[in-house]
Amino acid sequence: MGVDLAISIGSVRLKNPVTLASGCCGYGLDMEPHLDLNRLGGVFLKGLSMAGSEGNRPPRIWETGGGMINAIGLQNVGVAPFLREKAPKLRGYDTAFVANFYGHTVDQYVEAARALGEEPCLAALEMNISCPNIQEGGIQFGTDPASVYKVTKACRDATSKPLWVKLSPNAADVTATAKAAEDAGADALTCINTMPAMAIDVEKREFRISNKIGGLSGPALKPIAVRIVYQVSKVVSIPVVGIGGICTAADALEFVLAGARAVQVGTALFVDPQCPYAILAGMEDYCLRHGFPSVESLVGQMRDGAPMPKCHE
Ligand SMILES: Cc1cc2nc3c(=O)[nH]c(=O)nc-3n(C[C@H](O)[C@H](O)[C@H](O)COP(=O)(O)O)c2cc1C
Repeated sequence: MGVDLAISIGSVRLKNPVTLASGCCGYGLDMEPHLDLNRLGGVFLKGLSMAGSEGNRPPRIWETGGGMINAIGLQNVGVAPFLREKAPKLRGYDTAFVANFYGHTVDQYVEAARALGEEPCLAALEMNISCPNIQEGGIQFGTDPASVYKVTKACRDATSKPLWVKLSPNAADVTATAKAAEDAGADALTCINTMPAMAIDVEKREFRISNKIGGLSGPALKPIAVRIVYQVSKVVSIPVVGIGGICTAADALEFVLAGARAVQVGTALFVDPQCPYAILAGMEDYCLRHGFPSVESLVGQMRDGAPMPKCHE
């Protein structure tokens, strides 16, 4: 008997748990020369806003020990051009496309959720709440449970598409922001976005990236992300998707055992765009070697008190 790789995130059925992370695969089509999107569980598209954005000026990326720092500045074509020019090309694929979106006010989030919610090629919407709230003095929506509740509830009321909230690791208590999102009607949580970071060229006494501060991603982020997935999945009853530094099957399995039902691969794609194939094959092999009949049966095995199942013969 083969391993059952399919997994559901609420009402969304993924053919397998390996997906691509937002911002690391453009609008999906950009990966085409490297990857067959149909072999993936899902593809999280680059974050979209109503107005679009040209992003920050270069340099916008700096490779650091165990990862990279980016301050792309959420460059994107805008919701309407995406729906007009990109979305129709995604309709023929057999994978779950998820649109990542953001705003700087609650109304901007709502407008984007409403417009994207009409697009048939999208299986779900992923809300990026690691953005400054210009109405509340620029603090990130994602660090304040009350703001998380407000923006999630407003978007929940604006669309019937599955709404997945991407948590920021910068909240003082990420379990509080997770619960706020769940209470407001989120269908799933994706954990985590990048951590603020900085790098300096000491010879030139210049910042490595023009924005000075960027988001740290890659292997350095993984232990933080695994911890957050573990903590969050203990306090919510909606599905959790894990992201942060996943490069290998063992990395992905850490997230699944901690409580994630699926994983996203981001920074690792810049090193090896085909690594999702190896990650999936390695997860399947692990299930076979350890006697798990499905990926589903691995989810959350590290939660307190959960016994490891006996090996199947
Ligand atoms: C270049 C780059 C662009 C990103 N853009 C977005 C984005 O538009 N929206 C978003 O929610 N996350 C974005 N992220 C964060 C990733 O989706 C992911 O949460 C993070 O990088 C951690 O995963 P990783 O270590 O596998 O890259 C971006 C990350 C990188 C490296």
